[in-house]
Amino acid sequence: MVEFWDTTSKVSLTAAYLGRELGVASINDAHTFALFRDCGAPLLMQKFPDYWGTMRSAGMDDAQDMADMECANYGTHHASVGATLAMSWHLPAEIGQSIQMHHENRELSQSTNTPNDKPAILVSLGILADGILRNYRDIPTSDHLDRESELAYKTLCVTHEDLDPLQSDIKRILSGE
Ligand SMILES: [Fe+2]
Repeated sequence: MVEFWDTTSKVSLTAAYLGRELGVASINDAHTFALFRDCGAPLLMQKFPDYWGTMRSAGMDDAQDMADMECANYGTHHASVGATLAMSWHLPAEIGQSIQMHHENRELSQSTNTPNDKPAILVSLGILADGILRNYRDIPTSDHLDRESELAYKTLCVTHEDLDPLQSDIKRILSGE
């Protein structure tokens, strides 16, 4: 659980920072989304003692496969559980929608009115924050993450060059300074 919350905390701070600096989302929206994005996972860990071990041993490289595996093993997946929790906590509807779709890249690729599509923007910020954290931790990227990241860049209408000037601040955020 410590690892889970450390990752969640770092991803949410990074997503909030990116949202503000790239001018695509408010700190509040990006932080709230990324903080609660995977909140269904601790619930599933409580209910199914083997959940975390199963997820870890399967690897987290292909998020869609992971969601499919959760469904096969536990009859649901953490995005769906998280969206239900968000609704019960009266979080804004768009936050719940974002949590629900955060592993559904088909929806991201089909996003048509991106500047107004808050769920697609928030999910994309989470993907970029995931990639940045992996890089910071020297965890190799994967084909799946690379594909997700390219979709995220496209959705946010930003480039790798837009992120470069932000690297020193991001390192400071991730090191907890
Ligand atoms: Fe997730």
